[in-house]
Amino acid sequence: MNETIVIGCDHGGVELKAELITRLEAAGYNVLNAGTDTTDAVDYPEIAVKAARMITAGGADRGVLICGTGLGIGMAANKVKGIRAATCSDCFSARMAREHNNANVIALGARTLGVELAWEILTAYLNAEFLGGKHARRVDMLDSIEG
Ligand code: RB5
Repeated sequence: MNETIVIGCDHGGVELKAELITRLEAAGYNVLNAGTDTTDAVDYPEIAVKAARMITAGGADRGVLICGTGLGIGMAANKVKGIRAATCSDCFSARMAREHNNANVIALGARTLGVELAWEILTAYLNAEFLGGKHARRVDMLDSIEG
């Protein structure tokens, strides 16, 4: 079965999100859009929590979050129990975020990345697999910090 990806953004990420949705669907992913879809200002924590809860509730496998820098929306997502969000601006970090950290959300900056780089980073993340083993122990430790 194809993976389901939830994607959300604040007003700074609308254009990038639309382009990534097109590419994700063309690549065969089921895509759920958590908004926003206009350039009217919205608060990134609201979008982050909405998308994050779609993952923790089981409606989506992984998430992509976009704000101006990817920082605020990633920080917000990490406040949701069960979410491991990684803000990435290079392909190596994106791959490691999955292989070592088992990130279930990648956060991207629409004002820091061009479309092509954002797509390369996103595909590096999506195509990677969690390596498990010693990394699983560390990720368990990470999750246990949530209490
Ligand atoms: C919104 O102007 C901006 O603060 C937001 O998109 C993001 O960059 C925050 O981290």
